[in-house]
Amino acid sequence: MTPAGRRHRLSDRWWTVVSPGYDRAVGLVGWHRWLDTLVADLGSGRVLEVGCGPAHPAPRLLARGVDYVGLDRNAAMLARAARRTGCGPGTAALVRADVTALPFADDAFDVVLAAGVLGLLDCDSRRAALQEMARVARTEVRLLEPVHRPGTPQRRMRSHLLALVRDRPLELAELVACGLEPRLCGPPLLAGVYSAVCAMKPRGRNRPLVTD
Ligand SMILES: C[S@@+](CC[C@H](N)C(=O)[O-])C[C@H]1O[C@@H](n2cnc3c(N)ncnc32)[C@H](O)[C@@H]1O
Repeated sequence: MTPAGRRHRLSDRWWTVVSPGYDRAVGLVGWHRWLDTLVADLGSGRVLEVGCGPAHPAPRLLARGVDYVGLDRNAAMLARAARRTGCGPGTAALVRADVTALPFADDAFDVVLAAGVLGLLDCDSRRAALQEMARVARTEVRLLEPVHRPGTPQRRMRSHLLALVRDRPLELAELVACGLEPRLCGPPLLAGVYSAVCAMKPRGRNRPLVTD
């Protein structure tokens, strides 16, 4: 098995082990409040959450008429999401897949969300994930992730989650490189490591050229 394959397997085992207590633990630090803020204005359309874990935002979004799709690589997390959303993995609403290879068409979703997942990926996987998210998003990508805020010292993330996270925080330039127009939304969170980012996809990108 390759080192990347070993890392994937270790990461998957980790999420299986922590899945029963995950929601309670992140709730204690205010994570759910920040997630709710990230999606507060969404009241319609098709929304994909990659690395959805237990799909905390799903019930509220579904109740508001949003067509929510949760995607995660871990079966135990998806089982929790299924309990929360009332639908099972394998149905249209919950998909087991890797964020670096999204099984959806270009522009398939109005908004694509990622919270607490990109910071778990190495640089190459993160680039692939961002490209995929930008590809399947029609208008916008929203993140709640470790972000380097311009003008502040860069913090290196270390041994966070038993050494599963070893990379540097996301640079806004990485979103620009994927054709997105990012802006920071709100104050720094979790000791300044995490931030919310809204990144628009300029109209007309990735669309076929129409000629008369
Ligand atoms: C910290 S949890 C975040 C869950 C949820 N987004 C939240 O905000 O509570 C990270 C999730 O990302 C998933 N994940 C990690 N790497 C992934 C990958 N390459 N593709 C899809 N999901 C992944 C894990 O299985 C886990 O459920």
